[in-house]
Amino acid sequence: MCKKHNNQENCFTHVDSGLESVMLNCIVNGEKVCAYIDPTMTLLNFLRKELKLFGTKEGCGEGECGACTIIMNGKAVNSCIILALEAEDANILTVEGLNKNGKISILQQEFIKHDALQCGFCTPGMLMSARALLDRNSDPTEKEIKEAIAGNFCRCTGYVPIIAAIKQAAKQERGEMKNE
Ligand code: FES
Ligand code: FES
Repeated sequence: MCKKHNNQENCFTHVDSGLESVMLNCIVNGEKVCAYIDPTMTLLNFLRKELKLFGTKEGCGEGECGACTIIMNGKAVNSCIILALEAEDANILTVEGLNKNGKISILQQEFIKHDALQCGFCTPGMLMSARALLDRNSDPTEKEIKEAIAGNFCRCTGYVPIIAAIKQAAKQERGEMKNE
């Protein structure tokens, strides 16, 4: 029974730690979020289970594969090894937040054009690492791109089309900026 949620039987915000729930306030994809959570809940579980943002994937669950990468306060981070609590007052961007006005972003379009995804499991994390890179460096070298996605494992593509897609997206985005 969950005292915080009208005695609901299956209130997953109070996982099984037995600890008192705590309030979390943050911004996710531009929207204010306020929720009571179990203090042991990971940020990944918060996004997927509480907010139903299933784009962020769980692979290893140990900070090794990058499938769960999101952007928190401008930095690409592995959400599986961060407690949701640590996101208090944070600004979070997930793959769902890359869309603008219902359209996929230039970066996503370039991934599609370059066949930079096969099974797609790594793609949300890869996109978020690439997004964080392009936000801090609009003209990255190939080496910088490789470094930025070094923590994101892909079992399918061999990385070459991913790197090409990121390079092309950077070019496109720079072009757009010039036209503004
Ligand atoms: S699921 Fe987070 S790094 Fe693998
Ligand atoms: S596309 Fe399958 S793991 Fe990258």
